[in-house]
Amino acid sequence: MNFRKITFLLSTCLFCSGLLAQNVEISTPNTSMVISAPVGGNLNYLYYGAKLSPTDLENIESAEPSIYSAYPVYGMNCQVESALAVKHGDGNMSLEMEVVNVSTRTEKDGEVTVVELKDKVYPFYVDVYYKTLNGTDVIETWTEVKHQEKKPVVLNRFQSAYLPIRRGDVWLSHLSGSWANEGKLTQERLEPGVKIIKNKDGVRNTHTAHPEVMFSLDGKPQENSGATIGAALCYSGNYKLMVDTHDDEYHHFFAGINEENSAYTLPKGESFVTPAVALTYSDEGLSGSSRNFHKWARDYKLANGNQLRKILLNSWEGVYFDINQEGMDQMMSDIASMGGELFVMDDGWFGGKYQRNTDNSSLGDWVVDTRKLPDGIEGLIRDAKKNGVKFGIWIEPEMSNTTSELYEKHPEWIIKAPQREPVLGRGGTQVVLDLANPQVQDFIYNLVDDLMTKYPDIDYIKWDANMGIQNHGSNYLTADKQSHMYIEFHRGLEKVLQRIRAKYPELTIQDCASGGGRANYGLLPYFDEFWVSDNTDALQRVYMQWGTSYFFPAIAMASHISAAPNHQTFRTIPLKYRIDVAMSGRLGMEIQPKNMTEEEKALCKNAIEEYKMIRPIVQLGDLYRLQSPYDNLGVASLLYATPEKDKAVFYWWKTEQFVNQHLPRVKMAGLDPNKNYKVKELNRVDNEPLNFEGKTFSGAYLMANGLEMPYNHKLDYHKLNDYSSRVLYLEAAQ
Ligand code: GLA
Repeated sequence: MNFRKITFLLSTCLFCSGLLAQNVEISTPNTSMVISAPVGGNLNYLYYGAKLSPTDLENIESAEPSIYSAYPVYGMNCQVESALAVKHGDGNMSLEMEVVNVSTRTEKDGEVTVVELKDKVYPFYVDVYYKTLNGTDVIETWTEVKHQEKKPVVLNRFQSAYLPIRRGDVWLSHLSGSWANEGKLTQERLEPGVKIIKNKDGVRNTHTAHPEVMFSLDGKPQENSGATIGAALCYSGNYKLMVDTHDDEYHHFFAGINEENSAYTLPKGESFVTPAVALTYSDEGLSGSSRNFHKWARDYKLANGNQLRKILLNSWEGVYFDINQEGMDQMMSDIASMGGELFVMDDGWFGGKYQRNTDNSSLGDWVVDTRKLPDGIEGLIRDAKKNGVKFGIWIEPEMSNTTSELYEKHPEWIIKAPQREPVLGRGGTQVVLDLANPQVQDFIYNLVDDLMTKYPDIDYIKWDANMGIQNHGSNYLTADKQSHMYIEFHRGLEKVLQRIRAKYPELTIQDCASGGGRANYGLLPYFDEFWVSDNTDALQRVYMQWGTSYFFPAIAMASHISAAPNHQTFRTIPLKYRIDVAMSGRLGMEIQPKNMTEEEKALCKNAIEEYKMIRPIVQLGDLYRLQSPYDNLGVASLLYATPEKDKAVFYWWKTEQFVNQHLPRVKMAGLDPNKNYKVKELNRVDNEPLNFEGKTFSGAYLMANGLEMPYNHKLDYHKLNDYSSRVLYLEAAQ
């Protein structure tokens, strides 16, 4: 317990009579959360926002309404929504919790406060956790539910956290979408009624919605000003986020596992731990909350979060299933000649009895198809070494096809409703393995372990998951535990990932699920990055990556230069623009280089070289979103700056093209007003440099005025096109 907290507890206790008013501050460098947790009384929420002074802390109770439980339970105040609802063994549906203890302990990465609650009648307990992570403005909160009742207790609802948010002109920002259209930003004013953001896919939880939201407390959301609360549920499975606005002064926010078809029977002595909700507060607008999440992610929630990522070529859009030794060798040589550092062989390399020539067979048969690759993975690694690049490989471990040797051997390993035919997914034959089953867990662990043991040179794994749970039934779980299926799937997955990471902490693993179906903080601690979308169209990526950047740092967002016309939208976008968009995330390529012209290859080679220079700024820097594409003003723009503000990269993409359209001049942010920055354009294609190329401006000027971007590129007539984009590198003069 830190000094500040102790003083606070003492000072509040001195002034109270009767029940000890024990207010607890959970504080980060710039924020405070205050709860009231008197032993023998209720755990109530008091405050969450900017850091409180000692005086404000002392008097906070008189200024804030301590009427809301910090973790509301069902049964004695039935009309309002609750975070936890149970049925005791004797049929009693109610809970009434009181504080029995509050403690704070220091761990190596932060400080944990635990409020222990007990039911007034039943031996039923809830521990509410609050954890601060050193050096971040994030507070993680979750609960642990347990009991000593004779009969099992059924948990009908088990949300992780609740937060009341003062009404006013509060806006919600959240992400929605679908396959190939992930991370679309929606911003809406909170009105009376209930807003639910949920997922029931079972496997992929971020195609149609995301388990993260932001609240703008001061009216219409602004990127760089205004009080903002961000919340991210760190869970890979089905979730439910709810904002309930009824007749009082607060919006009531709940987040946790989706309880639908998931009632959980908890035996005596066992505990049920809910996934954490990460909360952050910033008075620097939405971008401020994003920066808080990004830092927390890089430091704690993303595998190898502070190590620069390699520039790669992935084979998927280049050759799809047409994998062969010569083709892979040619791609490796091409990416090496452009300065890339890693080659990733995607789907299509495996299969014994059944060949994987399309998506309708062989998942689970993880043996090299020697008809395509006679020299096996050894041959590929040999070629990678020859070309001076690292080698990576695609797998989809949680899945099988009914046309596979694995399914023939273990039909009981798949998820399917008893007595019914399995519902089939991709390719008309795909099925999901039952991760509740420890044998399945071992099978998946061994797949990775065998690959890595046989081929320790494998540097990167792309871990895919292309089907949701479409029928309810675990052959492993007993009849009375069928409603645990979704939860046990994700527990099983996490166990496997923990084992893999314990043995292979440095292996780069990409989290992919039909594109961006698994961008969540339940999984990212085990993955280095995620595939943002199967849609690689640069224009649509501006919108998708904008939304995704609300919660996820650029270092985690795989962003690839692909072919024109684009394979998803069929749009033809000039290479310069495709490069400029891909370079705002974790740069890679997903294209057949042998179809590129020498001029195109030279442009990519130059871009890769320049990206290497700015990579630490993009991947480890602070993000300032400047002009949203969702404002429909014809341009989108953002900037990354180093924490020292001595270097920055400014991105500007035109999103519409109309002649004589008036585009706003974009003001920069995140610079040091007192530093002078020299401007250098990257990826230049114009015949003439920009007017201000090589010139120096103060941060104050750039933030007050921005720089005037020409609406089009100056190119030879036959090269003119309707796209325009700029990347500027800013370096402070010494
Ligand atoms: C999914 C992924 C793609 C690719 C294919 C391979 O759709 O999102 O990137 O790996 O699977 O089948």
